Amino acid sequence: MQHWQPAGDHLPDAIAALRAGKLIGLPTETVYGLAGNALDPTVVARIFEAKQRPTFDPLIIHCADTESAFALCTQVPATARRLADLFWPGPLTLVLPKSDKVPDLISSGLRTVAIRVPAHPLAHELLSKSPFPLAAPSANRFGGISPTTASHVISELGDSKLVAGVLDAGPCTWGVESTVVGFPEADRPIVLRLGSLPVETLSEYVDNLEVLRAYHAIEDVERTQKGEQSPGMLERHYAPGTRMTLLDAEAELPPTNDRIGLLRWTDRLDIDAPQQVLSEEGDVSEAAANLFAHLRALDERGLDHLYAWKVPDEGLGKAINDRLFRAAE
Ligand code: TXA
Ligand code: MG
Repeated sequence: MQHWQPAGDHLPDAIAALRAGKLIGLPTETVYGLAGNALDPTVVARIFEAKQRPTFDPLIIHCADTESAFALCTQVPATARRLADLFWPGPLTLVLPKSDKVPDLISSGLRTVAIRVPAHPLAHELLSKSPFPLAAPSANRFGGISPTTASHVISELGDSKLVAGVLDAGPCTWGVESTVVGFPEADRPIVLRLGSLPVETLSEYVDNLEVLRAYHAIEDVERTQKGEQSPGMLERHYAPGTRMTLLDAEAELPPTNDRIGLLRWTDRLDIDAPQQVLSEEGDVSEAAANLFAHLRALDERGLDHLYAWKVPDEGLGKAINDRLFRAAE
């Protein structure tokens, strides 16, 4: 995999690779994506293969602007259009009825497709120059920790022949994935995945917003087909290789003889163990931006057990706690 830096100079390389049916690592404002031609089923199959992602978990299509995104859908409820006007470009993904232009593999055979217009300037420039929209899941192996730097992408997928290179635009601003909103019915918006756009912010503009909780298994195909749940909300996800326990904010560290590592919210504990602090200032945005990199750094130490503490459960903190919950056992 080529390490394209500075990213801006390598846009022509990235476009050439995409035109040739290859995949590239793409920086977005949330996490790095693994991008390929969304309209070519062979390329879409390569994305699943490179990630070792089961084909029941559908991908998000990234577009340069709202009109090209909605062109991939057959129906756009008024609420969806309003949310797009308010939050695109940005960390919001909308799940809407899919047009026949979209390969069935992208949406795992569902009747809907997930679309988003990213705000990252480089992603935007690439999408404006690309002759096709880009399917891009997070650029990690399935179930692993999402990458927030180009070197994370290289450590996840560097040995894959399917990936031509990664555009290195530095660390991602937000650090957790986009918020996914579906519409099982036109006037019934539901948050299918907590993300960088807080539920509280969405609720200011949408009445009766429902929020899906993480669930155990995708036993309920019917609900997924209706758009009431999302395959990506499986309980165990974003998982480090090291066993991890999630503790309440006030909880004390349980006694243990294991070699342990700690993921703390604002302060270090006075013990001799590897520790990462999400934000000394107690700033949730900083914590979100650090989350996956800190988890990854602890995981790479090859310890026996990790302990993480919940952060305040509001705004972006909800998305952080969701990721911690699903990374833990
Ligand atoms: O921030 C993001 O959204 C990043 C960057 C790269 O854009 N992408 C990302 O993609 O997180 P991925 O593939 O890791 O997650 C896509 C999520 C999954 O939870 C998937 O189940 C859900 O979107 N999804 C996609 N299509 C769907 C559909 N038709 N119905 C329900 N959920 C869908
Ligand atoms: Mg992912």
